[in-house]
Amino acid sequence: MRTESGDPGAKAGAPGMAPPGISLARSLGPLDLVVIGVAQIIGAGIFVIAGVGVRIAGPGLLLSFLVAGGACTLAALCYAELAAMMPRAGSAYSYALATFGPLPAWILGWDLLLEYGMGAATVAAGWSFYLQELLKAYGLSLPEWASGPPFTRPGRVANLPAALVVALFSVLLVLRTRLNALVARWIVAVKLGLILFILGVGLTRVSPGNWLPLAPHGPGSILTAASLVFFAYLGFDVVSVTAEEARRPERDVPFGIIGSLTLCSLIYLAMALVLLGMVPHREIHPDAPFAAAFRQAGLFWAAEVVAVGALIGITSVFYMLLLAQPRILFAMARDGFLPGWLAALHPRHRTPHRLTLLCGAGVALAASLTPIERLAYLCNIGTLFAFFLVCLATLYLRLRRPELPRPFRCPAGIPVAAAGALVCLGLMLSMPASSWWRLGLWLLVGLGLYAAYGRRRARTLRPGL
Ligand code: ALA
Repeated sequence: MRTESGDPGAKAGAPGMAPPGISLARSLGPLDLVVIGVAQIIGAGIFVIAGVGVRIAGPGLLLSFLVAGGACTLAALCYAELAAMMPRAGSAYSYALATFGPLPAWILGWDLLLEYGMGAATVAAGWSFYLQELLKAYGLSLPEWASGPPFTRPGRVANLPAALVVALFSVLLVLRTRLNALVARWIVAVKLGLILFILGVGLTRVSPGNWLPLAPHGPGSILTAASLVFFAYLGFDVVSVTAEEARRPERDVPFGIIGSLTLCSLIYLAMALVLLGMVPHREIHPDAPFAAAFRQAGLFWAAEVVAVGALIGITSVFYMLLLAQPRILFAMARDGFLPGWLAALHPRHRTPHRLTLLCGAGVALAASLTPIERLAYLCNIGTLFAFFLVCLATLYLRLRRPELPRPFRCPAGIPVAAAGALVCLGLMLSMPASSWWRLGLWLLVGLGLYAAYGRRRARTLRPGL
C-alpha cells in the first residue's frame, strides 16, 4: 500500500483504509487485484483444513468446496457493490456504520475481530503442523507436550510453535506494518509454483477409484464440511478494501474479487481431486494432508518441498490477518468506541503497538490451546455473520436508497443479496451448536463493552452515506 503523503498515520488505518485527509495512490490495475486476492486467499484452508474436511465429508469434500465457493461469490458481489459505493470507507465495519448506524457497526466490528483473530490463530496452528512435518523429514520432532493443543492427543499441552510464530510476527508488526511488495510477490510466486508442483507430481499417483463414493457420510456432511472449508476462501474481502488504490475501482474491484475467487475455486477443486485421488479418504492426514500424502506415496523429497512451500505460502495470509485485527480495533477507537490510549501510536515506529501486542497475545493463546477445527469454525461463523450483514446492507440500500450512485451494480442485485444472506445463514446453521454458543458469548461480551463505553460516544457520531 503506497501513500501519497508521508504521514506516518497512514500506516495505522485499516488495511487499505486511509485516515481522513490522506489519499492513496491509484496504482492498482485489475490483474494486480487478482494477485492480491490470490495471495490472501490461498493458505491454511487448502493446505490444512481440507484434511479435516475430508474426515467429515470424505470425497464429498469436492462438493463442499463448490458450495462454500458459491456462498462466497454471492457475498463477494455484495462486497463489490458496497466497496465501489464507498471506496474510501474500506471495510464491512465502515459500511455498517454508514448504512445502519453505530450499534450494528459496533457489532460488526466486534465480529470482524473474531474473523481476523481466529483466522490468524487457525493459520498459525496450520503453520505449526507443516513445520512439524518438515522436522520429521530430518528425523526431528518436538516434545509431545509442545506439539499440539491439550486433549487432541495424550501428552499434548500446547501448540508451542503456533504461539511463538504469533509472538514473533506481532513484534515485527510493531516495528513495520508493510510487507515489502517484492517479498509479497515472491510469496505469491512460491505459492503458485507449489500448487503446480502438487498438481503435476500428485497427478502421477492418483487412483480415480479413491474419488468414490462421493457422499459416504450423507448429504448433511457435505454442508458441514462446506461450513468448515469456507475458511479456504476468506481473504477476498482484502481486495474490496483496496478500492481506494484501484485505478478504476468500479470496474477493477469487482473484477479482482470475482477473478481471484474463480481462480482459487478452480485451484481448490484441482488440489482436492489430487489429494483425494492419491490417498484413500480414510487415510488422509488431518494436520498436514498434502505433505503427508506425498510421504504416504513414498515421495519423501516431494513431501519436503510441499512442507517448505506451504510454510512460506501460509505466512503471507497469516501476516495480513494479524495486521488486520488491530487495525479494525484502531478504526473503532478512532470513532470513539474504545478508549483513545489503546489506539496510541508508537512514538518511533508510528504503529498501534498496544493494540497489536494485545491482539497478538489473544491470538497466541487461542492458537496454542485450541484445536484447529474449532478455531476455523469460530472464524467462519463470525465471518458468515459479517457476510450475512453485508448482504443485508446491500439489500437494504437497494430497497431504501435506490437513487444512490452505484459505480458497480451487482447484476440481479436484489435476488443476489437475498440469496447471499440466505446461503450464509444456511451455512451457519450447518455448523456445530458449540460454534453458535461461542459466537453468542463473544457478541454478548461485545454488547457489554458497548453499553459500558461505546454507547456514550455513539450519540455524537453522525455517520451517513
Ligand atoms: N483463506 C485463508 C486461508 O486459507 C484464510 O488460509
